[in-house]
Amino acid sequence: MTNPVFVAVDTIDLAEAKMRARQLAGVVGGVKLGLEFFVAHGPEGIRAVMRECSALPLFLDLKLHDIPNTVAGGVRAAASLKPRYLTIHISGGPAMLRAAADEAARFGAARPRLLGVTVLTSMAEDDLAAVGFAKRAMSEQVETMARLAKANGLDGVICSPHEVAGLRRALGPDFVLMVPGVRPAGSDADDQKRVMTPADAMKAGATHLVIGRPIYQAADPVAAAKKIGAELGSGPLAA
Ligand code: C5P
Repeated sequence: MTNPVFVAVDTIDLAEAKMRARQLAGVVGGVKLGLEFFVAHGPEGIRAVMRECSALPLFLDLKLHDIPNTVAGGVRAAASLKPRYLTIHISGGPAMLRAAADEAARFGAARPRLLGVTVLTSMAEDDLAAVGFAKRAMSEQVETMARLAKANGLDGVICSPHEVAGLRRALGPDFVLMVPGVRPAGSDADDQKRVMTPADAMKAGATHLVIGRPIYQAADPVAAAKKIGAELGSGPLAA
């Protein structure tokens, strides 16, 4: 089994990001770089980090959200960084999702796989109502958005560990479910409210896990990543 763990490199310090990528290159399945890092260091920063772990796939978490033409342009520009996964907000609507998927498809087999962001986990049901969404259960809202993403050509969604089983049932076996909020047994939950162990999240139907602090804040990050890989029965590379 390939290693499903993307390590979240959550820093805007370029030297630190490169060091983490170099150190963890052989023991995780991929690297996630997000908005803060991109705003701080741009495409060149992303390339510099990925040169340190060139065998690993990149998950570029930019959460694009704009009119269809602009998001398609963003996908095209991001594709030059060759991300395996790229995020867009499902709330941008069907035309935006379709435009993004069509643009990604132009890159053929090497295309970025598009993952939709459903509801930000920082939002509760009242927050959804505050921005004008109909008041409904969060799980229903998330499932509706994930179905919309699939219907418009996205490859998967980001979801919390507790949404995995329901979304796997609703969306079938081939949809990517990229799951943050994962904590190895015995490690600190930090600010994550509803955590699950890596093995349980995979059993529930996750295809990939995003793990940050339990790896990079560990006294020995390489050992921490290896331990997670061993628990999952993973080989070292390429989710
Ligand atoms: O350090 P930790 O393992 O909590 O990092 C999880 C990563 O996943 C961070 O990069 C965080 O921004 C991201 N994330 C999350 N919850 C979401 C979406 C993304 O924790 N719903």
